[in-house]
Amino acid sequence: MPVTASSADPTRVPRLPADFVWGASTAAYQIEGAADEDGKGASIWDTFVRRPGAVLDGHTGDVACDHYHRFDEDVALMRRLGLDAYRFSIAWPRVLPAGAGKVEPRGLDFYDRLVDALLDAGIEPTPTLFHWDLPQALEDEGGWLNRDTAYHFAEYATVVAERLGDRVKRWITLNEPFVHMSFGYGFGVHAPGRALLLDALPVAHHQLLAHGLTTTALRTNVPGAHVLIANNCTPVRLRSDARADEDAAAASAYDVLHNRLFNDPVLLGRYPDLSPYGMTDESWGGIVRDGDLASVAQPLDGLGINYYNPTWITAPADPSGGLPFDLAEPEETYERTAFGWPVVPDGLTELLTGLKARYGEALPPLWITENGCSQPAGTEDQARIDYLAGHIAAVAEASARGVDVRGYFTWSLLDNFEWAEGYHQRFGLVEVDFATGLRTPRASFAWYRDLIAAHRP
Ligand code: FCB
Repeated sequence: MPVTASSADPTRVPRLPADFVWGASTAAYQIEGAADEDGKGASIWDTFVRRPGAVLDGHTGDVACDHYHRFDEDVALMRRLGLDAYRFSIAWPRVLPAGAGKVEPRGLDFYDRLVDALLDAGIEPTPTLFHWDLPQALEDEGGWLNRDTAYHFAEYATVVAERLGDRVKRWITLNEPFVHMSFGYGFGVHAPGRALLLDALPVAHHQLLAHGLTTTALRTNVPGAHVLIANNCTPVRLRSDARADEDAAAASAYDVLHNRLFNDPVLLGRYPDLSPYGMTDESWGGIVRDGDLASVAQPLDGLGINYYNPTWITAPADPSGGLPFDLAEPEETYERTAFGWPVVPDGLTELLTGLKARYGEALPPLWITENGCSQPAGTEDQARIDYLAGHIAAVAEASARGVDVRGYFTWSLLDNFEWAEGYHQRFGLVEVDFATGLRTPRASFAWYRDLIAAHRP
């Protein structure tokens, strides 16, 4: 069955199993606002947005969707959609304003109210414990370059689990440790804005160690915990005019640094060979200590996959530039989102079947924890419907080919603060007027509601 952007009729999208979980995703800094309310500490994003030129038009998340005050309205929207589950993130500096030490009860109270509102609406709360808003106080100590951050994270997770674990069973430890490492510490285009290129690699291990320690903390404090990590994964593609040796080597390097660096240790308990990227056994061995990998690789209940598009790679034009690859443009003419990202639904089938081929029995059930697109403002968003239809069909195709996929969370419920792009990229099923906070469901909202309803027994 070819995967194409299917018809607008949600009942014609290939079916997933009746118990498949339908959800939507958001993240704290992107929607909550209330940036210094109720004792919240500063995060690295609160700092970064104030750096001149860091965010388009100087936008900040100070108010964002004001979800902190309007969450009841947002839960009502989710109820109208018929969501099974809602993926949101918990802001570490709301709970521990300095990252460690003193707990702020008002921060915990907010998530307590949100969880209760979701449960009242019949929606399973699915929190992510870290979606990039590291407490600034910890960044001042080196952030994720400092191993101590991993231990602080597990302590924070324990505080949250003790408060919410009676009602919250499905947890996601980290969001996209690859993007946080590369954009935040490698290229400096996200907070904390450090441009270390390959010297950012220790950030990978410290995040993964945090994931491992936190998995233990969740299993200890939450009976029946269901633990996932959300990794950003991309199929790596070559252009048809690629040179067999050097372009293929660059693609393989990119696959190592984007995909395998974060999946191999979690699923196989070992890192891919990083020696070509400046990490000799000796240097990397000083970062990865005895026992770390056993913690990182403990069994997971699922692997979250965030998919947006494949990545095309060529050998670096300037080999002395510090990276073993260059990003390339695809030569095929793909439709583009408003962000300019190519729309490639079959890349998602390729990704999911490729994970199964690579990891076999070591692969836990998969969950699509993010997928969606930015489209021009307005509520007649047929292009978003086509994007979702094509990608959900791609998931169904992977499932038909034997990949165990349990759920799909679209990014995003609401238009929100899209990091360095500010409010310019609109990913929501619901349009948000950022001047007034007014929410207006788009055509894709009704489409997704009908798709979910069509799957109900
Ligand atoms: C992902 C992020 C998410 C959102 C989407 C568009 O990388 O996890 O917060 O910005 O991209």
